[in-house]
Order: sequence, then structure tokens, then C-alpha cells
Amino acid sequence: MEFEIAVLPGDGVGPEVIDEGIKVLQAVGGKFGHEFRLQWDLMGGCAIDACGTALSEKTLDMCRRCDAVLLGAVGGPKWDDPQARVHPEDGLLALRKGLEVFANLRPVKTFAVLANSTPLKPEIAEGVDLMVVRELTGGLYFSQPKKQWQTPQGRQAVDTLSYSEAEIERILRVGFEIARGRRKKLTSVDKANVLQSSRLWRQIAMEISADYPDVELQHMLVDACAMQIIQNPGGLDVLVTENMFGDILTDEASVLAGSMGMLPSASLAGVARGKTFGLYEPIHGSAPYIAGQNIANPIATILSVAMMLRHSFGLEVEAAAVERAVFAALEEGYRTSDIMSENKIEVGTKEVGEVIANRI
Ligand code: IPM
Ligand code: MN
Repeated sequence: MEFEIAVLPGDGVGPEVIDEGIKVLQAVGGKFGHEFRLQWDLMGGCAIDACGTALSEKTLDMCRRCDAVLLGAVGGPKWDDPQARVHPEDGLLALRKGLEVFANLRPVKTFAVLANSTPLKPEIAEGVDLMVVRELTGGLYFSQPKKQWQTPQGRQAVDTLSYSEAEIERILRVGFEIARGRRKKLTSVDKANVLQSSRLWRQIAMEISADYPDVELQHMLVDACAMQIIQNPGGLDVLVTENMFGDILTDEASVLAGSMGMLPSASLAGVARGKTFGLYEPIHGSAPYIAGQNIANPIATILSVAMMLRHSFGLEVEAAAVERAVFAALEEGYRTSDIMSENKIEVGTKEVGEVIANRI
């Protein structure tokens, strides 16, 4: 089969991890007889430098014409000035919104072979397999008003947490559908003891749960959930939550997997497996302090490629082959420095990509 993929390496370690993701993707193409055609473009800080905007209309249009988008990471100290007119992250948010990829799937799975890499007790991290469904195009990140202004008493700023019924319902339905394909346990995470948007969220969750009698729904406050994630993660299956809650909880959950460098993500415009347009990116950032040194862990990006094969192209066998190759490389002891432990083989970004590609 043939697929068209927009590739946006971005900033910092983005280009390095993307190179390895593409290496593995091309290995899949060779082995299974698919053609992956790549359209490379700039997004984030590099695009600000090149054309004054973090995401141009031309780039967004190009992404829309493709079957899927693979993204590295954006941002860095060079563009961090809070007073700057435009930030790299604006490009990422405009891309997510422009592509309407409202459902961000962030699987958190611990590999037994990495038990030594987490600061948690091994018995807590062991066997963790949870899926965070993060709402990605609404809530605190996007709602208006969102601005800073001057008042006679001093400066003032506002961000708004607003959700429509339709936005809440569609993300909850993705959560229920995914829970249905797993252990049938959905935890809806909110702050309904304080926030109106969360009370509406909880109400709608209760209403639509009638359509999914096979799925057990529980509600959890986000602060309690933060604790559960490190105290009893094995008790969780699928979490569904607001944009910023999901952002924070998934960084926390990445500790279970040993490193942020292990966690992939898929941002989808719907739930149908195999034919959904999607944006795929590692959950880690651009890590400017290690950029250009060939030490970033490319596994999050490589696992994002696997999610692309599965969710946007319907290539389940190929996706599983990528995941198996990652597992094999870890089993054989290959590690980047973020997950290095005693008696393992420390290698760089390129070498990890090479080892995994060779095992496809
Ligand atoms: C993420 C990142 C982004 C987010 C940033 C870079 C805007 O932290 O994908 O989790 O907050 O969504
Ligand atoms: Mn984040």
C-alpha cells in the first residue's frame, strides 16, 4: 500500500528522534512492501526563524492533504521570552486545532526489563498498562478570553476553562470505546468539587455511560488521581480527562515507564481504528539541553510510528512488528542514557534506531 506522511521534526532533539522513527518506518516499508512518501516541513521555533510564524497556512494545508502527520518536538530557550510575539508552542496548538485531532491517546506501559529504571518500587510499576485519553483541542489551552492586559492596579491575565456539551461528549465516547477494547474500566478524571466545567463533564459521563453498560465507569478527582497514578497504577485502565489535567498526569505517569523518552502518543480526529487521520508525536519535549548530542531516547517516537501504522493505516501486523522490535532491543540490553542501568549496553540515539530497524 501507499501512504503520504507529513514529517515535522521541529526543534531540539526533534530532528534526531524523527530520523530514527523514519529509519524504522522505512524498514517496515521494505519488509512488508509498503511505500511511505514523506513531505518534510518546518514547524515550531525553526519555522519562526525561517518565516516568522510557528505554523504557516501552507504547512497546515500540506498536513491536511496527508494520511497522517509525524511530529518531533517544538520549543527551546531561544524562543522562550514570555514577551515574544509568537512561541513555538503556538504552532503545535494551531496544528492540533487546525487538524481537529481532539482525542490524544497516551498509552503508559511498563516494560519488565526496565523495572530498574523507575524510582518507584518495582512491585508498583510492574505490569502497569494504562491509557490516558486527553482532550486536546479545548479547555484551558484554547478557551477565550485568554490574554494579558494593563489595569490601573497593575497587570492582569486570564485563561478560561470552557467546554461545550458536544466537545465533552465526543471525548468521553472515545474513552468508552477504548475501554471497551481493553479491561472495560473507565476512570473519568475531573475537579467536580470545584469547577463548573467538571460538573458538566461528570454529568455527561453519567448520562452516556448508559450506552456502554459493559464498561464500568468511575469518577476521580484529578488531585486524587495524581496520587493513584504512583500509589496504585495497576488499579487503573483507561483515564479520560480535560486537556491540561491530561498534560500534567501523563508527565507524571511517564515515571512509571522509566522515562519520558518511552512514551508515544496519537492524536486522532475520531475513534475508528485503522482509518482515522492522526498526528503522532512523542510526549516528551524538545529537551534543548541534550539536543545534537546523539543521546535522546528515540523509542517514544518509534512507538508513535507504531501507533500511526495501527490507527491511521490499519496496519496492525506492522505496528506489532515495530513494538516487538523495540522490546527485543531492550531485552538485548540496548539503552540510551535516560534508561541506562548496570550491565546494560549504553548506546546513542542513532544506534538504538539502527538496532530496532534491524529487528523489524
Ligand atoms: C505535550 C506538551 C505540549 C502540551 C506543549 C509543548 C505545548 O507538553 O504535548 O504534552 O502542553 O500539550
Ligand atoms: Mn506535556
